[in-house]
Amino acid sequence: MAKTRTVFECQQCGAQSPKWLGRCPDCGAWGSLAEVRQEAAPAKGAYAGLATSAEVAPLAEVEGGAESRWPSGLPELDRVLGGGIVAGSAVLVGGDPGIGKSTLLLQLVQAQARSGRKALYVTGEESARQIRMRADRLGGPPPGLYVLSETDLGRVLAAVDRVGPEILVADSVQTLYSPEIGSAPGTVSQVREVSGRLAVLAKGRGVPVFLVGHVTKEGALAGPRLLEHMVDTVLYFEGDRGHPYRILRAVKNRFGSTNEVGVFEMGEAGLQGVANPSALFLAERPKGAAGSAVVPCLEGTRTLLVEVQALVAPATFAAPQRTTSGVERNRVQILAALLERRLGLPLATHDIFVNVAGGLRVAEPAVDLAVVAALISAFRDRPLPADAVFFGEVGLAGEVRGVSRADARLAEARELGFGRAFVPLPAARHLHGTGGIDLIGVPSVADLLDRLG
Ligand code: TYD
Ligand code: MG
Repeated sequence: MAKTRTVFECQQCGAQSPKWLGRCPDCGAWGSLAEVRQEAAPAKGAYAGLATSAEVAPLAEVEGGAESRWPSGLPELDRVLGGGIVAGSAVLVGGDPGIGKSTLLLQLVQAQARSGRKALYVTGEESARQIRMRADRLGGPPPGLYVLSETDLGRVLAAVDRVGPEILVADSVQTLYSPEIGSAPGTVSQVREVSGRLAVLAKGRGVPVFLVGHVTKEGALAGPRLLEHMVDTVLYFEGDRGHPYRILRAVKNRFGSTNEVGVFEMGEAGLQGVANPSALFLAERPKGAAGSAVVPCLEGTRTLLVEVQALVAPATFAAPQRTTSGVERNRVQILAALLERRLGLPLATHDIFVNVAGGLRVAEPAVDLAVVAALISAFRDRPLPADAVFFGEVGLAGEVRGVSRADARLAEARELGFGRAFVPLPAARHLHGTGGIDLIGVPSVADLLDRLG
C-alpha cells in the first residue's frame, strides 16, 4: 500500500506547498492552491518509456533519418502537423468549447479507419451514442473505428491493450482521471498524470495519440504550460463561434514548423478544408462601403486577404471608446493618436471601432496601413478604391515601413482580381513592373491621405 500525503498544489502552475497559502509563491496567482492527496512517489516504471532508449550510444550510431509519417486524410491538418501524422507522437488540440475539436478528431479517426487503420476514440465527455450520431453526420462510422465512453484512465489503458488501435483520440484530458491520485479530474496533478501516461503509451507503442484540451477563460490551456511540455505538438483551434471559419494553428511542433495554419469551414457535414481562404474571407465584403480596407496577411507560408473594417463616430462620453476585434487594441490606439497628430484628424473626440471580418485574428505589423486607410475612409465617410489592397508597417513618425514577403502578398491580391496596391516605398521600387497590379508606394500616412484624394 503506497503511502499518501496531503499537499497543496497551484492549479495554475502546478507548484506544491506543504501548507495552504493565499497566493502561489511560484507564479503569484491568488487563491489558486487546492488540497490534493498524493502518492508518495509515482509507481515504479510508470514513466519508463518516455525516453525510448535507456542505453548510452555514440550519437553518430543512432539511427537517423526522417520519422515515419502518413497522411491524416485531412490535408489542412497535414499541413499544420508538418506533413502528416508522426508515429508515436502525442498531439494536443486546444480550443474554446464548441469550436469543433471533437468534430475534427472524429473526422480524423474516421478517415484513418477508412484507410484501414484501427482507430479508438475515447470520450469522457459524451456517450457512445452521441459519438455515433455525430459520426453519422460526418459520413457514417467505418468498420475499424472503435469508441469507448470512459473517464477512468486505468480502464482506458486496458482497452488500448485489448483493442490494439493504431491511432488513439482522448477527448478530453480534463475529464480523464487516475483513481490513484486523490484529486478531482481536471486538477493539475490529474492532467499531468493523464497526459504523461498517454504520452508514454504513444512512445511505447508507436501509436499517435491526439488529446483534446480545454481552454480556460483567460485563453490558456487548463493545467497550462505543464500540459504543453508533456506532448510533442500543440495545436490551437480558433475561430468565432458565430462564424463558420476555423483556423488550426501549431504553437509547438517537435516534428515541423509552427508557422503553418490550416483553414476549415464548419458546415452541416462537419469541417471542410478551405483551399482558397482569401475568397472565403472576402465573400461578404460590402461594395462601396466606407471604412473597409483589404490587407494581404501572412499566415505561415500562406497569404490570406482579409478585410479590416472601421467605424468612426462622434464620442458619446468624455473618454472616447476604442473597441477592436481581431486586431490589437493598443495598436489601433497608437494609430489613431498618430492620425490625430500627423494629419490633424480630430479622432480624440470620436469613438473608434475596428474589426476584422470573419472572426479572424491578425497580429502582423503589415496590417497597420490597412487600419489607417480604414480609419481615414471611415472618418471621411468615403469608400476606398474597391480594387485596392493596403499593407505596410506604420512608425510613430507616420512613416510607412517595409514588411516581409511583399511579393507573395501582391501575388495573392492579383490572384483575387485586385488591380492596385498601396505599399511601402521599398516594395514599390523592387517589385515595380512585376505585372498585373499597380503599385503605389506611400512613404508616409500623410502621403496616403494625399493619394486617396
Ligand atoms: P464540437 O466538435 O462538439 O466542439 P468542441 O469539441 O470543441 O467543444 O463542435 C460543436 C459545434 O459544431 C456545435 O455547435 C455543432 C457544430 N457542428 C456543425 O455545425 N456541423 C457538424 O457537422 C458538427 C458535427 C458540429
Ligand atoms: Mg468536444
